[in-house]
Amino acid sequence: MHKIIATKELAPKIKLFQVHAPNIAAKAKPGQFIILILDEKGERIPLTIAGFDDKKGTLSFAFNEVGKTTKQLGCYKEGDNISSIVGPLGNPSEIRKFGHVLCVGGGVMIAPLCLQIRALREAGNKITAVLGARKEDLLIFEQEVKRISNEFYVATDDGSKGFEGLDFLKTLVRTKKFQRVVVMGPVVTMKAVSEITKQYNIPTIVTLTPIMVDGMGMCGVCRVTVANETRFACIDGPEFEGHQVDFEELVNRQRMFLPEERTSSLLWEHLEGACHEKA
Ligand SMILES: Cc1cc2nc3c(=O)[nH]c(=O)nc-3n(C[C@H](O)[C@H](O)[C@H](O)COP(=O)(O)OP(=O)(O)OC[C@H]3O[C@@H](n4cnc5c(N)ncnc54)[C@H](O)[C@@H]3O)c2cc1C
Ligand code: FES
Repeated sequence: MHKIIATKELAPKIKLFQVHAPNIAAKAKPGQFIILILDEKGERIPLTIAGFDDKKGTLSFAFNEVGKTTKQLGCYKEGDNISSIVGPLGNPSEIRKFGHVLCVGGGVMIAPLCLQIRALREAGNKITAVLGARKEDLLIFEQEVKRISNEFYVATDDGSKGFEGLDFLKTLVRTKKFQRVVVMGPVVTMKAVSEITKQYNIPTIVTLTPIMVDGMGMCGVCRVTVANETRFACIDGPEFEGHQVDFEELVNRQRMFLPEERTSSLLWEHLEGACHEKA
């Protein structure tokens, strides 16, 4: 059992939880993830580590309420318990001095990106950060990332804040000399940024989030194609070189269980109960 120490609503349907998980906090590194199970009937869902405190034994993660389990998790409150948390899983991010690093974050993945930016900064890198969201009110961690970056930009899909879309990145990447690019966000963002940086041959690290089951390399569900080879995102990743990723296959595999996921979410909302029943 892992007690929830604190909860925070970052934006509509995006929450940040801090939980008691001393064994994981002692070993966690930026770029790694956990798999949690809410209760004895729960499914396993992977979430990226967004913070950890070895001394306090706490771990934090941010999540988007998109389906049955994340909506159910969104109903949990401070003091509630999560049945099981496994981790840290996956390989840590490569943190060392690269020079000037462009960090692009989209949606909920801005939270774990912030952890990585902090580590890259501490390793002596200059950071240009670009945060993106569908619209202004969905933008998270803006002040935190601004504070720890040397240069900072915002982009929204609808132009409600900052640049409209990511087209401005073409100029940014052409005019600045980046030694490395790190992208954490929706597949469409990781693909778009990788296409821009490929022309300039800048190493571009993306975090892949295919559907996972065991998270330990045994089930094969998380397979992705990178450099024309099958890799397992849970043990070979989740970070890969974006120029080599087959993003189309990733999107198709992420949609594999869409009808089942929709049914499960509807059943949760209409039959099994919602937050008020838990309160
Ligand atoms: C390594 C890894 C790290 C992740 N880190 C985070 C994180 O930090 N925060 C966060 O909010 N989410 C993260 N995800 C995605 C998260 O695991 C899914 O959103 C979650 O499993 C959905 O469960 P659900 O039952 O609520 O929704 P489901 O009913 O399973 O799905 C609802 C909707 O979400 C989509 N979806 C489901 N799984 C994924 C996925 N893996 N990637 C993208 N879309 C998906 C479905 O296509 C569907 O449209 C991560 C995934 C992986 C593999
Ligand atoms: S999740 Fe099973 S092999 Fe990666």
